[in-house]
Amino acid sequence: MSNDPLLQPYQLKHLTLRNRIIVTSHEPAYPEDGMPKGRYRAYTVERARGGVALTMTAGSAAVSKDSPPVFNNLLAYKDEIVPWIREMTDAVHEEGAAIMIQLTHLGRRTRWDKGDWLPVLAPSHHREAAHRAFPKKLEDWDIERIIKDFADAAERMKAGGMDGVELEAYGHLIDQFTSPLTNELDGPYGGSLDNRMRFCLDVFRAIRKRVGDDFILGVRYTADECLPGGTGKAEGLEISRRLKESGLIDYLNVIRGHIDTDPGLTDVIPIQGMASAPHLDFAGDIRAATRFPTFHAAKIQDVATARHAIAAGKVDMIGMTRAHMTDPHILRKIIEKREDDIRPCVGANYCLDRIYQGGLAFCIHNAATGREETMPHSIPKADVRRKIVIVGAGPAGLEAARVSAERGHKVVVFEAANNPGGQIRLTAQSERRREMIGIIDWRMSQCEKLGVTFRFNTWADADTIAAEKPDVVVIATGGLPHTEVLTKGNELVVSSWDIISGDVKPGTNVLVYDDAGDHAGLQAAEFIAKAGGKVEIMTPDRAFAPEVMAMNLVPYMRSLQKLDTTFTVTYKLEAAEKSGNQIIAHVGSDYGGASKQRVVDQIVVNHGTIPLDDLYFELKPGSKNLGEVSYDELLSGAPQTVARNPDGTYQLFRIGDAVAARNTHAAIYDALRLAKDL
Ligand SMILES: Cc1cc2nc3c(=O)[nH]c(=O)nc-3n(C[C@H](O)[C@H](O)[C@H](O)COP(=O)(O)O)c2cc1C
Ligand code: SF4
Repeated sequence: MSNDPLLQPYQLKHLTLRNRIIVTSHEPAYPEDGMPKGRYRAYTVERARGGVALTMTAGSAAVSKDSPPVFNNLLAYKDEIVPWIREMTDAVHEEGAAIMIQLTHLGRRTRWDKGDWLPVLAPSHHREAAHRAFPKKLEDWDIERIIKDFADAAERMKAGGMDGVELEAYGHLIDQFTSPLTNELDGPYGGSLDNRMRFCLDVFRAIRKRVGDDFILGVRYTADECLPGGTGKAEGLEISRRLKESGLIDYLNVIRGHIDTDPGLTDVIPIQGMASAPHLDFAGDIRAATRFPTFHAAKIQDVATARHAIAAGKVDMIGMTRAHMTDPHILRKIIEKREDDIRPCVGANYCLDRIYQGGLAFCIHNAATGREETMPHSIPKADVRRKIVIVGAGPAGLEAARVSAERGHKVVVFEAANNPGGQIRLTAQSERRREMIGIIDWRMSQCEKLGVTFRFNTWADADTIAAEKPDVVVIATGGLPHTEVLTKGNELVVSSWDIISGDVKPGTNVLVYDDAGDHAGLQAAEFIAKAGGKVEIMTPDRAFAPEVMAMNLVPYMRSLQKLDTTFTVTYKLEAAEKSGNQIIAHVGSDYGGASKQRVVDQIVVNHGTIPLDDLYFELKPGSKNLGEVSYDELLSGAPQTVARNPDGTYQLFRIGDAVAARNTHAAIYDALRLAKDL
């Protein structure tokens, strides 16, 4: 038996957990009609198969109709959920893992225009910033109804084979009762801590009565809201003690912070560039004070930190949630002593930001996550070994190389630069986004293990490719910044990449014109502002940086607001002209009527990329498929069989930004879904 602290079993009441790593509750927004159907099940089962001890499914499954599914939550208030839950729990148990589900009433943390359009409610009228609803102040009959809803939902989950349920008590209704900031009730449920905790304990009491003792009950709660006037650490410790002493629950799952604003949420679930394991010591304090089973998760991305959390007795079970979105097989790799093979979570929060935009949670660099029904996490070997030549060692090219090599093919990669990474290497120039390089480093180390040949500093042309006698050529050459957007004066502007790469010195009074709305615009702005420049970011869109999304915007704003950057929306840069050593920017608007000028010493344009596709078009005539991709075959997971040119000697494909400007996830998905069938 291993003496690795992470691999020791843990006895949680009657439930034996096979090791110390859990996936904490998270809603990936995969439900279909509010039910955990195929996609949900396949996603959950893959993590169980990978060896995790306990997977907590469904962040925030709704117990009531007036808890509208704002990020496509599971609808635990419907009886029809029971067979779907049963299918999932059976499949997870078969893989040797335990499975629980998180139940909640979102209270004000949702929107009234979702689900059944019922009024949103809370123990006060205070608006929640993140979802913008003005809640109804709840009444006595709401309280009775919701307590019963919780008990009904828990009973459904037990009938579906769950090992237990966890209640969400940070930022949602239960915590809206507990926090003095959101509870303005009089009488039994408002005022003193006793009264503010009454709702939580009434809910647990009702559930326990329904499910009996042989069912795990836990709570995920904030023990310090980190807000003036909110629950502080001292009260949080008292709450922890009272929860334990209630005798109603089996563990505490500790959160520190508040989630009612984007910055608050980002401190609870830290993004890349923020400290690792920021609340682990705090969770350790709760465990020490209560001597009660304690769980915790918050940016424990690597195995060494998780091991420390257990070995140092900070917690009993450690969550590695996003880490499992990136690599579902962490435990298997620990057991097989292959920790180096674990695909690292780089903290990009692409997963989370997507769900708050109404999308599905996808991992920025594992395109199989959430697509387990069609995309493999372990790549099967091909029947026939082929020679695959890839041009470009950015994320798309490296993913194509990795997957092709896993298939058993002979792979050669050409790259014009002296090192791999493409746009990601530029992204990683920002101190805060340095973790992004993990996307490249992991692929390089996998490719090296798999025997991929790299030719750096090599500008591949048609002759270079022909000399390789390839069966397949994949063009992943990416794109170049596109700045020709003005009617006049295009030669006066520089690109966001020029600034990020350091090729162009930042100006002192700068207009950043950003209609791509992605990271590069804000990154360039931050470089300039940090170098002492005065920056205005202008976009013709109705919001700035929409592709950056909510949690990713937080660190930029924390930095840019301090540097006094200004933001101008709905205005369009039309032309530029020189005036002495200054540039006059002519500004108009799609809305008409407006015409302004700015006098600056630098204009930076962020307008995406245009494909670097010369080689593709040069190679097209010599290919069997003339570059055509069968989308039917691509989408159904069949090998590409287009044959348009009998004289062609190789298949030719193009992926990532070499086709059109998109993002890292799209580039990696392009590569995976093509290469897995080559
Ligand atoms: C897509 C996504 C959805 C989440 N939804 C919930 C949720 O509904 N309830 C909850 O308690 N936590 C939720 N979380 C937070 C995670 O449980 C976890 O606390 C967080 O990701 C920090 O842990 P990690 O750094 O190990 O990922 C979510 C996380 C992600 C990535
Ligand atoms: S998107 Fe980023 S934070 Fe989310 S799981 Fe993937 S690497 Fe981790």
